[in-house]
Amino acid sequence: MTDTNPTSDPASGPSLENLLHETRSFPPSEEFAAQANAKAGLYERASAAGEEFWAEQARELVTWQTPFTETLDWSGAPVARWFGDGTLNAAYNAVDRHVEAGHGDRVAIHFEGEPGDTRTVTYADLQQEVSRAANALTTLGVRTGDRVVIYLPMLVESVVAMLACARIGAPHSVVFGGFSADALRSRIADAEATLVVTADGGYRRGAPSALKPAVDEALAPKEGAPETSVQKVLVVRRTEQEVDWVEGRDVWWHEALAAADPVHEPVAVEAEHPLFILYTSGTTGKPKGILHTTGGYLTQTAYTHKYVFDLKPETDVYWCTADVGWVTGHSYVVYGPLVNGATQVLYEGTPDTPHRGRWWELIQKYKVSILYTAPTAIRTCMKWGDDIPGEFDLSSLRVLGSVGEPINPEAWMWYRRVIGGDRAPVVDTWWQTETGAIMISPLPGVTAAKPGSAQVPLPGIAATVVDDEAKPVPDGGGGYLVLSEPWPSMLRGIWGDLERYKDTYWSRFEGLYFAGDGAKKDDDGDIWLLGRVDDVMNVSGHRLSTTEIESALVSNPIVAEAAVVGANDETTGQAVVAFVILRGEHANRASTPEGAAEVQKELRDHVGKEIGPIAKPKKILVVPELPKTRSGKIMRRLLRDVAEDRTVGDATTLADSSVMDLITAGLAVPSAASED
Ligand code: PRX
Repeated sequence: MTDTNPTSDPASGPSLENLLHETRSFPPSEEFAAQANAKAGLYERASAAGEEFWAEQARELVTWQTPFTETLDWSGAPVARWFGDGTLNAAYNAVDRHVEAGHGDRVAIHFEGEPGDTRTVTYADLQQEVSRAANALTTLGVRTGDRVVIYLPMLVESVVAMLACARIGAPHSVVFGGFSADALRSRIADAEATLVVTADGGYRRGAPSALKPAVDEALAPKEGAPETSVQKVLVVRRTEQEVDWVEGRDVWWHEALAAADPVHEPVAVEAEHPLFILYTSGTTGKPKGILHTTGGYLTQTAYTHKYVFDLKPETDVYWCTADVGWVTGHSYVVYGPLVNGATQVLYEGTPDTPHRGRWWELIQKYKVSILYTAPTAIRTCMKWGDDIPGEFDLSSLRVLGSVGEPINPEAWMWYRRVIGGDRAPVVDTWWQTETGAIMISPLPGVTAAKPGSAQVPLPGIAATVVDDEAKPVPDGGGGYLVLSEPWPSMLRGIWGDLERYKDTYWSRFEGLYFAGDGAKKDDDGDIWLLGRVDDVMNVSGHRLSTTEIESALVSNPIVAEAAVVGANDETTGQAVVAFVILRGEHANRASTPEGAAEVQKELRDHVGKEIGPIAKPKKILVVPELPKTRSGKIMRRLLRDVAEDRTVGDATTLADSSVMDLITAGLAVPSAASED
């Protein structure tokens, strides 16, 4: 469906090229370096020790029920086995062992609801609640190995539900609350889940927003859709909205937990026991269930959380703003920080409710010392102006992290200067749902940071940039980012589809993991990420598939054909722009600005219903034709030129080279682009 010559067409945007001439550098202060967890020797130790380095981390950072004797078994490549003969429990590591070590009174979570309600949860509280939830799940019939889907807002219960699953060895599959009923249905079906945990609703932008109706819809019989295997739905009461109730299926969370015993023996599982499945967008219409297992994942999330954020569990207050529905929430809200015994902030709402200083107010209130967020959020706050953060005391901050998309140097500098008081190091961390944990990042206290670059693979990680022939590029060269050695938190496959796992990540370059990102090396050998080279878009740090949105559009009867591109966007990194050909008489409907606006609204709502509000195109352009090569592939590069208001590039390989004139002429009539 696409034109892919990725090297000539990375989804980068020309401005990123200029970044490579960045000369600013921010070496760590002596004061920071002296107290930092990471020392330069960590790189040396990792390269000298090879896989034994990871065994050392696994022994130091994780508690094992049965110690492992094997470190890595790569004989089944590309499916790795790490610490294969060890056994452990993830919830025990995240909770119980801290209580046993005398830290039961330490705050694990400072919860702040959007309306301003708060809850302080110590590690001892967490142990009781997770134990009750584990007992409740067991009573409801969940057994080790069964899959549980979690569809919740950002609540303490979200963390508890995940850990309760881990405690009984039932892999969880968290579905982001912003996904639609249809998206939820397909994930429940693919994972063959037996239980869903949800809530009546959550608070969003100052008002309760319902969640349970989507679960009811996802589980209702639908023509053409397989019956789900879900037996029970556990419902957290958050907003006290009216809910429809299915007797025999639905159970209130608070009632089930109140009836459950607060003591529970964690189930020791093998290191390679599945911990979770997390669905993410790929280049086809069907989301991939990325599978992560227990021992290696816990080792690398704990390791990276300790060194990249310089965590001191006794004194730091950590806050990662990601939702638990994404991998960042799994690795850096739940597993990494809790395994390390951190105290963290969990916030339910948006940064601008009830005012645009809410985040900074929370940092002041809880004296947050480590903040981890996404470039989109930084750019949005930057747009709102320096005065807003200027009203709050942010002097507690000492490390700032960024994740999810390339961070432009202006945003990086603003983050450092305005939020970090020109003092706190910024770490730009590159990784993916598939990698499970951070792979490329500066180390605070060691690396002289460059605005806009993730710079160096972490100690123990082998990442490089190769050309089309898989040859490493010299400094100053560009190509594709690859990982050349297995790592502990790597995905173990795509749920139920081993072939797709091999095809997607291991077939592009023999023996190398292909990340799907374009990258360059600067003259110092530092790595700069340039965005996706495949049909995956990155909108506000969220992964979306062009094909998936195209399928959603063409499932509407008024659409004959659709092509979707990610256009550069100042705030969200990329924005979804769709080009559609309408069927028959509908084409006429769109010939007036009012008619076009109506069609656009209809189609945006349709995509919202099929996938979720995050996937709604920012712009929908009605066109008479799509640019195709002689073999029928859509040339997205040309559509991106149109979407980004550039002169259209070379169109000579089109089957009909006049198509682009037709498209641009049609678009000269202003169409009512809509935004939410
Ligand atoms: O394109 C890269 C981009 O996000 C993709 C992974 O998306 P996802 O699996 O949703 O995980 C996001 C959070 C880890 C990558 O292939 N990406 C992530 N971090 C960065 C980044 N691009 C540039 N710089 C980063 N720091």
